[in-house]
Amino acid sequence: MVSATIGKAPAPKVRDQQLFIGGKWADSASGKSFPTINPATGDTLCQVAEADATDVDRAVQTARKALESGPWPQMDAADRGRLLLRLADQVEKHARDLAALESLNCGKTLADSFGDMQGVANTLRYYGGWADKVEGRTIPVRGNFLSYTLRQPVGVVGQIIPWNFPLLMLAWKWGPALACGNTVVLKPAEQTPLTALRVAELAHECGFPDGVINVINGFGEITGAALVAHPGVDKIAFTGHVETAKIIQKAAADTLKRTTFELGGKSPNVVCADADLDAAVAGAFHAIYFHGGQCCTAGSRLFIEHKIHREFVERLVAKAKKRKLGDPLEAGTEQGPQVSKEQMDKILGYVDLGQKQGADLLTGGRRVGDRGFFVEPTIFDNVKDDMAIAQDEIFGPVVSVLPFQEVDEVIQRANSTDYGLAAAIWTKDINKAHLFAKRVKAGTVWVNCYHVVDATTPFGGFKMSGQGRENGEAALEHYTELKTVTINLGSAKKNG
Ligand code: NAI
Ligand code: MG
Repeated sequence: MVSATIGKAPAPKVRDQQLFIGGKWADSASGKSFPTINPATGDTLCQVAEADATDVDRAVQTARKALESGPWPQMDAADRGRLLLRLADQVEKHARDLAALESLNCGKTLADSFGDMQGVANTLRYYGGWADKVEGRTIPVRGNFLSYTLRQPVGVVGQIIPWNFPLLMLAWKWGPALACGNTVVLKPAEQTPLTALRVAELAHECGFPDGVINVINGFGEITGAALVAHPGVDKIAFTGHVETAKIIQKAAADTLKRTTFELGGKSPNVVCADADLDAAVAGAFHAIYFHGGQCCTAGSRLFIEHKIHREFVERLVAKAKKRKLGDPLEAGTEQGPQVSKEQMDKILGYVDLGQKQGADLLTGGRRVGDRGFFVEPTIFDNVKDDMAIAQDEIFGPVVSVLPFQEVDEVIQRANSTDYGLAAAIWTKDINKAHLFAKRVKAGTVWVNCYHVVDATTPFGGFKMSGQGRENGEAALEHYTELKTVTINLGSAKKNG
């Protein structure tokens, strides 16, 4: 278990960073680097080597060599699993330093970063267990043949991840990919390059063969695009914005790469009048404000049954006003900064738009201070389904409250966006809960809880929230090719 008392953490010291290719540190071919920022202050933390198409090519070729020759393809599946278990142990051992670095670079509170580190260890361990259990089947084929299936690695996997859960997204991508025997080239988000490089180093120390894991940093339109275009990459696994996914899917079509996408959401969180209201208020608050709303599953459309609407909103506003914003490394901070100025400006833009379109701004809506990228917890009431703040992913601490009258109506309204990542309902009525779970179009449905995500349970989106599933056994399918082998049994008599 990740165990640490969460007090104040000293700001970790960081030095300039290189690329990690083939088990070695390297400068970018162009010698270019870019600054990475502390979102709590806006200050530069260090310079990070920026990979262009030449570096991407080097990383991909290295990953291909490691896929096809050397120790990795020879290794027993059980030993691949042991490497993942070892890496999980290392992440737990270094959880304090990793969590502090994560908080420093992406602005999440130290408590949330510790939670992430436990999630990282759990995920790596879970897939470590899978490595020697990825099995084919024997098939009762017609004729005098023996047919069986093999599950084999897809190959070199390009993985492009976002900044909101930097290490957890790394674990979701590496766990199943490595368990299944693939090699990886990971591109972290340009905002949060630091922890992935540290974990690549830990993986190297654990004994992953050179070239199996490569980490290259840079911007989406350059580094990410080069990875997507590279003919030596067999699959792209992406988490991020829907519009980016569309660009990637089109670019990947040229080489017919396999793609999986985990995209955004505008998740409906439905509170019925018969719910345990204390739990629902706490749950709705957590649903939207966890990590400052920078969460693909954020409960950003809060449907409240009209009978309890006024009381519920008052309680939520009171809680929002008390939320403690500040340095994410400081004990007691409940909400850190948004990850970047760009994200802060996007959020504040939606606050303006919400007011212009006629929603009631009950609390929040402003930047806090003039240093770093802090935004007040914000609540809009009486939001209409077609307003931008009810349709678009804001990815910040902004919740839209939408009153409703009855369950049929709310299910239909819950489904009236392009997204379908998550949904929740708060009720004591088992019929309502199951009806909602069955009819809502979402990859994850929570009943009387929110943001419960585990390495063991499939995660992904309906509609424009994604393609494919991560976590659980479901992810293995996306990291293996299925091969059918058929053997002519000749004149041997068919028997059973
Ligand atoms: P983004 O989708 O642009 O970035 C995510 C990753 O994709 C980053 O590593 C980025 O470098 C890479 N990327 C960007 N353009 C690319 C391209 N053309 N080819 C290949 N890779 C590319 O997301 P961004 O700009 O950081 O955030 C914008 C919005 O996206 C957020 O406000 C939020 O609404 C949504 N988002 C959703 C996330 C989720 O968990 N589903 C995570 C992050 C952002
Ligand atoms: Mg972008």
